[in-house]
Amino acid sequence: MIGNWKMHTTPSEARELARELRERLDGIREADIAVCPPATSIAAVAEALTGSNIAWGAQNAHWAQTGAFTGEISTSALKELGCTYVIVGHSERRHVFGESDEMVAKRLARVIASGLVPILCVGETEQERQQGQTDEVLRRQLELACADIEEPPAIAAYEPVWAIGTGRRAEIGDVETVHRFIRERLAARFGSKAEGIRILYGGSLKPANVADLASSEEFDGGLVGGASLSAASFAELIARAIERRNH
Ligand code: 13P
Repeated sequence: MIGNWKMHTTPSEARELARELRERLDGIREADIAVCPPATSIAAVAEALTGSNIAWGAQNAHWAQTGAFTGEISTSALKELGCTYVIVGHSERRHVFGESDEMVAKRLARVIASGLVPILCVGETEQERQQGQTDEVLRRQLELACADIEEPPAIAAYEPVWAIGTGRRAEIGDVETVHRFIRERLAARFGSKAEGIRILYGGSLKPANVADLASSEEFDGGLVGGASLSAASFAELIARAIERRNH
């Protein structure tokens, strides 16, 4: 279960939220838990979470090791900050900041080469879905994102754009169908190396709507936006998912 804090929290707010999460989640062993604060808050979160069972990561990383790339973030800096994960190709990067599939591919390759764990995000827009293009869009995003790598991303996330921040979580049947499709595409590209890839769902995931997904074999976890910004709701979401999984 990974919280994506997006552009929320100043360093002091992040430290506070991380401390609260640590209090609520310390000792949980049934789930891998992480948070991805804004880059400016990673150091504060690292300080608050060191020695806990909660890992941390970044929301993006550049494809060059270093250089003249104003405003970008290097994987070596993220490693020094103790990051485990890096989100790559989030829909907000693609749609708000115009990141192309080629940029996503280069970022993904660098993250893998650096030893950080990528979370490759894919997902269709509302219009693409209405036009029946979901499979085609996902096939393209996966194929192009993986163009420069020999081993698959350890984690992929299905984030339908229309479900992000809208309160409209995708139906379980659709999530299962898409997760299966993603697994098939990655297996076709990487063969047996694709076994064990974890596929997360993201898009309006809340404590109140996680249970049915958590009971599905196709659901390996969640990439949680809004509901990860309160320690109480993120902890409740994780607790409900574990409870349902153990059921
Ligand atoms: P919400 O959970 O706020 O819909 O955001 C999902 C998301 O984009 C996580 O990366």
